[in-house]
Amino acid sequence: VSLADRVRAVVDAHRGDRGALMPILHGIQAEFGYVGPEMVPILARELNISRADVHGVISFYTDFRAEPAGRTVVKLCRAEACQSVGAEKLAEHVQQVFGVKLGQTTPDGSVTLEQVFCLGNCALGPAAQINGRMHGKLDENRLDALILGAETGK
Ligand code: FES
Repeated sequence: VSLADRVRAVVDAHRGDRGALMPILHGIQAEFGYVGPEMVPILARELNISRADVHGVISFYTDFRAEPAGRTVVKLCRAEACQSVGAEKLAEHVQQVFGVKLGQTTPDGSVTLEQVFCLGNCALGPAAQINGRMHGKLDENRLDALILGAETGK
């Protein structure tokens, strides 16, 4: 099945919806893990809107990823409560260890590092979510171990 066919299947599933673009984009992200530039012309054609309109919506909402995420996605909280217990130091450390900036994926596709502003786990900061699982009271060693453990499936 080609990429275009998969994109069209998502579009078809939402065709009757009002304001279908958002549910379609969420559907695309669920299907592929990202909404890539190569999908924009297909979406524009299928929905009969301009590429600029599709692109505008994608770039306005930060939920949409433009490229595939790494196998391990680390969401590091940088909001106030976590900052007051060392989140900044943790963010610097983890960027250095994995050689990527917040918002980037390692070149080998293993780890995506993201910043978020509050995970609702403030009492247990610094907090991070790793592949959807919440972790609190993190320090540098524990965070490294959790990321590497997630990577190797341990
Ligand atoms: Fe980090 Fe709320 S401030 S979880």
